[in-house]
This record gives sequence, C-alpha cells and structure tokens, in this order.
Amino acid sequence: MLRPFPTPIYVTRPNLPPLDEVAAGLAEIWANRQLTNRGPMLERLEDRLARLFDVEHMSVMTNGTLALELGCQALGLRGEVITTPFTFAASVNALVRTGLTPVFADIEPDHLTLDPARVEAAITPRTCAILGVHVFGHPCRVVELEAVARRHGLALLYDAAHAFGTTVDGVPVARFGDLSMFSFHATKPFHSLEGGGLAFRRPDLKGVLERLANHGLQPDGDVPEAGTNAKMTEVQALIGLLMLDRLPDILARGKVIAMTYRERLAALPGIDCLPDPAPGVEVNHAFAPVLVDPARAGIDRDGLHDALRRLNVVTRKYFHPPASDMAAFRALRAADSLAVSRDAAARVLALPIYADLALDDVHRICDMIAGIHARTAS
Ligand SMILES: Cc1ncc(COP(=O)(O)O)c(C=O)c1O
Repeated sequence: MLRPFPTPIYVTRPNLPPLDEVAAGLAEIWANRQLTNRGPMLERLEDRLARLFDVEHMSVMTNGTLALELGCQALGLRGEVITTPFTFAASVNALVRTGLTPVFADIEPDHLTLDPARVEAAITPRTCAILGVHVFGHPCRVVELEAVARRHGLALLYDAAHAFGTTVDGVPVARFGDLSMFSFHATKPFHSLEGGGLAFRRPDLKGVLERLANHGLQPDGDVPEAGTNAKMTEVQALIGLLMLDRLPDILARGKVIAMTYRERLAALPGIDCLPDPAPGVEVNHAFAPVLVDPARAGIDRDGLHDALRRLNVVTRKYFHPPASDMAAFRALRAADSLAVSRDAAARVLALPIYADLALDDVHRICDMIAGIHARTAS
C-alpha cells in the first residue's frame, strides 16, 4: 500500500537567497533611490551574465517573453519563422505578437528539439528566421541549425528559457545563433522573481534593445519606432545577483536528483527518461521529464499523472498540448505531420525537481512510480 505525502510535492519550488543578503541589497537600493530605468544592480547583473555566458552583450528585461518579442523586432524580422510546436506558448506568442508568422516543423525524437532536416524542408521564399527551443536543458542541434541558417541566409534565434547553465563542448548555449532568450522566472534554477534577457554578440543590437525596452524613446525624446516597457527593476536585479551566487550549488543539486531518477526509473519498462545528452553536451538538470509508453508500462501518461496526484505528487504534462494544437495557433501552417511532437506531447510527464527536494522524497516518488508500474505492467 503506497502512502501519500502528507502535503503536496510540486513539480518545482522557487529557490530563494538568504533574507539577510536580500536585506543588505535592499538597503543599497533604498540608499541610492534608483528603483528602475537601468540602475546599478541591473548593470551589474548584465555584466555578470555576459561573462557567465561568454557573450559580448546581455540585455536584461522584465521577462523572457518580452525579451524575445524585442529580439525579433530588433533584428527587423518580417515574414515566416520556422519553429517547434513542442514548446511553451510564450515562444509562439512572441512571434505572433511581433507580426511574424510561425510555421511549425517537427522535432527529433531523442531530445525533442527542432529537427534541422525538417526545418530545411520547411523553408519558403517568405522564411526570414528559425526559432529553436532548447528543451528540458537539452540544446538544439546547434551546429546543424547554424548550417541551415547560413545556407539560406536566415536569422537564427534560440528560446533558451530552459537552458541556463547548459554547455556544448564547454561553450555556453548563449553563444549560438544571432541571439538567445533566457527566462529568469521564479521557477527556474536561476531567477529574478520575474525576468528575462537576451544574450548576443552583435554590438549594434544593444542600443536598439535598450531603446525598445524603454518605450522606444531616444535621448532627444523622439520615438523612431514603437517600443514597449520591458525594464527590469532594481529589486529583481538584486535577486538575480544573489541567485547567481547560489547557481553552482543549485545546478549540482539538480544533477544529483536527476541522476537518482535516471538510476531508479531505468528498471521500469515504459517509463523512459530522455537519452543521455549528445556527446560534449552538459545539461543543466533543471527538469526531470519521462516519456510514458503505455504499451510497455501498462499505464498511459495521464493515468500515471492522476495516480501520482492521488499520492500528493504533482507532476506536469509539459508541453501538452503542442502549440500547434492550441486554439490561437491551430490555423498556422505545419510544414509536416508533426508526428514526433504530437507523440511527445501525449507521453511526456515532468517529475518534481528543485534544489531543496530531499533525496529521500525522490526515492519515495520512485517507489510510488514503481508501485503503480508493478500493478499495471503486464
Ligand atoms: C520554453 C519557454 N519559453 C518561454 C518562456 C517564457 O518566459 P517568461 O516566463 O520569462 O516570459 C518559458 C517560461 O517558462 C518557457 O518555458
């Protein structure tokens, strides 16, 4: 008989810096009275992130979605952007809200990122860019996507909301493509309560992004092109700076938890972790997804989700449905059958993972999954 947890174990839980460090930082903000509009905390954060990501420039903003919208605008994109349906709504929202037309292409089955061959097949004379999404910390096939973008003269953008800390052959993911968007949402290993930013190497984009994020205003008071308000506050930047200090511990802890799931679940046919990262890739272990194969597990993803919910383990069907099946995006063109994306969306379940999730609790969740599996697998 499996006993439920006394209180819910959620799929994630925000990490927090120590309150005394927050108080000291707040005292500094209170003393200089600059609360927003590119204050010293924000500049420090941009500088530290640019160094961490090994990029020339970092523009920090209110959240990742607005950062992606402004990135599209700053690159002057017009027309169709080929992207993945296996993503969070924000990636597609950002394209639509900047007047672009998303075109969906399918993902590869190993790490569920945009398939470069499908992207190339989807290109038309209207295509202006590719938006890849690094999924669950696994990077897109960056070398192949770069080659496709080069061959066809397309911009290459990445939604790196899931990939803070991921590297490819020792190179931070932020260095690939024309720009990478990061989300600093509260549930991410690195966060600033809400927040996000763009990492890029082209020097001409920095000033444009600062202007667009500040209502489009230039110093003489004119607005040459409509902007918005995407300014990060000093309190958010302070939290970001303090979280950066904790990041190595948080990532290390995520790795221990993710490895524990991998080892324990390997014995359960049909409850499949994603394959090991591609050679040279170091993932950030921010997520613990499994793919449920009902034929082998004897239970489908929704059944496992509901069974765990009854035991007070709150998992997440992430990403489900695929963006191409969402009401706002259903009419958009799909360049192929999207069969891999649909299959992944129907079978994926994200398990709880966050830095202060006790290892005993991870083992208990694995015991629960094994217990459910023992009852259902033939
Ligand atoms: C893949 C992906 N893209 C974009 C976003 C949006 O980021 P934000 O919440 O910072 O706007 C998220 C948010 O969690 C995400 O998971």
